[in-house]
Amino acid sequence: MLINLIAGNSSENLAKKISKKLKANFVNSEVKIFPDGENKITLKGKLSKDKTIVVQSIYPPVDSNLIQALSLVSKARDYSTEVIVVIPYMGYARQDREFLPGEIVTMKVLGQLFKGAGASKIIVVDIHSKMGLKHFKIKTENISAIPDLVRYFKNVKLKNPLVVSPDQGGKERAREFANNFGSEYITLEKKRDRKTGKVEIKTEGLDKVIGRDVILVDDMISTGGSIIKATKFLKKQKCNQVFVACTHALLVNDAEKKMKISGVAKIISSNSIPGKTSIVDISSTIAKAIK
Ligand code: R5P
Repeated sequence: MLINLIAGNSSENLAKKISKKLKANFVNSEVKIFPDGENKITLKGKLSKDKTIVVQSIYPPVDSNLIQALSLVSKARDYSTEVIVVIPYMGYARQDREFLPGEIVTMKVLGQLFKGAGASKIIVVDIHSKMGLKHFKIKTENISAIPDLVRYFKNVKLKNPLVVSPDQGGKERAREFANNFGSEYITLEKKRDRKTGKVEIKTEGLDKVIGRDVILVDDMISTGGSIIKATKFLKKQKCNQVFVACTHALLVNDAEKKMKISGVAKIISSNSIPGKTSIVDISSTIAKAIK
């Protein structure tokens, strides 16, 4: 059966790679933004009636990339009975529960929107927390980019490496990385004030890090705040070099520069979001999940 693969504007290169691996009928899309901010989306090829894959990451401009994803799904559904949506980076994933009374659980809204647009299944990569996907009343799958990131780090010369999660929420991720990598791991205790967003690290007396290279593993870097806090803390504990491995590098507001100033030696991320640090290709992992 011939598979169609539509590349959303935010994921064109990654989509091309996935399409090649699946030997799919590649259909690109074009976006024009009107002066009032509206998106005009056009398919640049023909779809057949078979299964269609839509690939579109939801990174900034988040709402624009989201409406493009929904529109492509809706268009695909006009032709195909099965539409699989690959969202390598799922924006809004941190809004998966009502932390403070009255907060909208935007992931629930997204679940309704993708179902309404005609999606049969959603595939995401290293979603912030699996809780987010519980709001989708269609099939979902969360795949891991950790084996791809580990493959990169196996070729880096490191001094007695230690894997570190910057917070308790990332413990499982750090464990998976360390198990694949063949090293120890530890978890820092980060506390975030839900009202101000201020982050503090509480862990004390970590002799383990002295003189060792550390790999800070996280799902995403947005402002870099969490990584900067962790790096400063680890440097105070007299670690050697600090490397960062993350799946989604959003790097907003000069985050990369700020992280380097705080002492980060290198940031390595996957190409779920295109960018300077996004050197680990996850197209094979995604193609395998689709097959
Ligand atoms: C938080 O729990 C996440 O795993 C990331 O650590 C966090 O969202 C990254 O955001 P920022 O870079 O702004 O600290």
